[in-house]
Amino acid sequence: MIIHRHDVVVVGAGLAGLYAALMTSDKVDTAVVSKVYPTRSHSGAAQGGCAASLGNEVEDHWEWHFYDTVRGSDFLGDQDAQEILVKEAPLVIYECEHMGVPFSRTPEGKIAQRPFGGHFGNFGKTPMRRSCYAADRTGHAQLHTLFEQCLKRGVRLYNEFFLLHLIVRDDRCYGGVAWDLRHGGLHCFHAKAVMLATGGYARAWKITTNSMSNTGDGLSLVLRAGLPLEDMEFVQFHPTGLYRSGILVSEAARGEGGYLINGKGERFMERYAPEKMELAPRDVISRSEQTEIDEGRGINGEAYVHLDLRHLGREAIMEKLPQIHELAWKFAGVDCIEEPIPIQPSAHYAMGGIPTDVHGQVLKDEKKTPVVGLYAAGECACVSNHGANRLGTNSTLDCCVYGRRSGIAMAKFVAEEGELLPDLPEGAAEPARELVTRIFKSKGKERMVEIREQLRETMTENMGVFRTEDSMSKALRVVKELQERYKELSIQDKSQQFNTEFMEAVELGYLLDFVEPIIVGGLARKESRGAHFRKDFPQRDDKNWLKHTLAWKTEEGIRLGYKPVVITRFPPEERKY
Ligand code: FUM
Repeated sequence: MIIHRHDVVVVGAGLAGLYAALMTSDKVDTAVVSKVYPTRSHSGAAQGGCAASLGNEVEDHWEWHFYDTVRGSDFLGDQDAQEILVKEAPLVIYECEHMGVPFSRTPEGKIAQRPFGGHFGNFGKTPMRRSCYAADRTGHAQLHTLFEQCLKRGVRLYNEFFLLHLIVRDDRCYGGVAWDLRHGGLHCFHAKAVMLATGGYARAWKITTNSMSNTGDGLSLVLRAGLPLEDMEFVQFHPTGLYRSGILVSEAARGEGGYLINGKGERFMERYAPEKMELAPRDVISRSEQTEIDEGRGINGEAYVHLDLRHLGREAIMEKLPQIHELAWKFAGVDCIEEPIPIQPSAHYAMGGIPTDVHGQVLKDEKKTPVVGLYAAGECACVSNHGANRLGTNSTLDCCVYGRRSGIAMAKFVAEEGELLPDLPEGAAEPARELVTRIFKSKGKERMVEIREQLRETMTENMGVFRTEDSMSKALRVVKELQERYKELSIQDKSQQFNTEFMEAVELGYLLDFVEPIIVGGLARKESRGAHFRKDFPQRDDKNWLKHTLAWKTEEGIRLGYKPVVITRFPPEERKY
């Protein structure tokens, strides 16, 4: 097996991974390992913006952004982390600008800012323009700029290398083992510091905004390494996915003034959030839409409502929302200048993930014991900035702020470690070898696509915007059955080069692992908070549930533990919307 040695290995080449690599690359030898070519990372699909209290359009302060983020998280976010997020937001925006991100501009040439759901001024009272944007292709612009900077600084890129195993022994990480998708074969990446920036997981749902690659790889590798995941029950549904495909129609459309309309022609948000209307937080809007649909007020009684942009006019749509215009046309056959867009809630974002401290270092238990040499940032991590519900445009921000912080922390750690790499533990690559042999050699009867599609249907049906004991128990039963069937999986393509059947078979194993803590955590949490809404427990219960869930994978199934929420400034208050 080929062994590559670097001071720092970052897994994942989205915004968090590339930002971290930029922070380490001028100090220590840095490599980025990515399953997809970096500019195809899912960060490139982020549309609406990146939040920061620049105050370029209206008065703004980091304290207001702080309050909105805490409130949006339904008070489950850790306020020490949230304070850092909002305070460092202007810094990363200007750093991005200076690196070359082509932000849209105000008439006087400042970075333009637009409204987004859940962002307000004066502690929730006045309208706010906080999201810095590049038309409706903000993530694309940021990703390409960071990628160019990584090339300029000589970051070593291992493109199309797919991580199969994380080498963790005795609370220390030594690297990982990856499959070379282009040529076939295993490669060991041996490093002083490893960072997971592997992104989200919403491909486990049938209706999702996420790209094909978002299969939660890093999360399941952490579980398999005997480490916990945090707050997995909190899954965000974006209110405006294109009907049937789930493709993202940016909240920027509502930020620019779009309306949500039901089958009776009503702006139904008047019923649910009369003050905030279409700019209420996402969990509130997704539930309102789903209620309209469930009560028969979808368009023609079907499972969608309309997003109406027609009153914005051709010029505003083509200048500020050109990608939405294109996506609606290509994927729904709708010209949104002339017609409303059919939309429905779509699985979008993981609030939970790999527990970390505010420097990105991975934590292994309730006492916050660190894992030496292991870091995580971006959507796969849970620091926890977003608690039970994330505000729009706080995600690209999270990637930049915490990717950057993790990079700084890793450079410091490597400098302190000294010259020598710690020896690889005995048999470090064996689990990866076994996995490859098992999948290529299996003669089992089960087919990957059938198991995967059944999983995605089950998650959409039973782990959606609304949940109950019954729906979650059903999901758990099905997942257990599918996990058993997965053991009998075989693939037909036995070739080594670009074997996507092999890749998808491994990804299916990841999907089946991380969904279990989502369901088990959801069953245990007998309350409704943020995106976790239980019809059988519709109230938030701070007395019993103002705490983070930790979930470990064991031989006996998922084991749960809990740790307190960090509250520094804003005590929990009632949150209707
Ligand atoms: O609606 C959007 O543009 C998505 C933004 C986000 O998830 O932050």
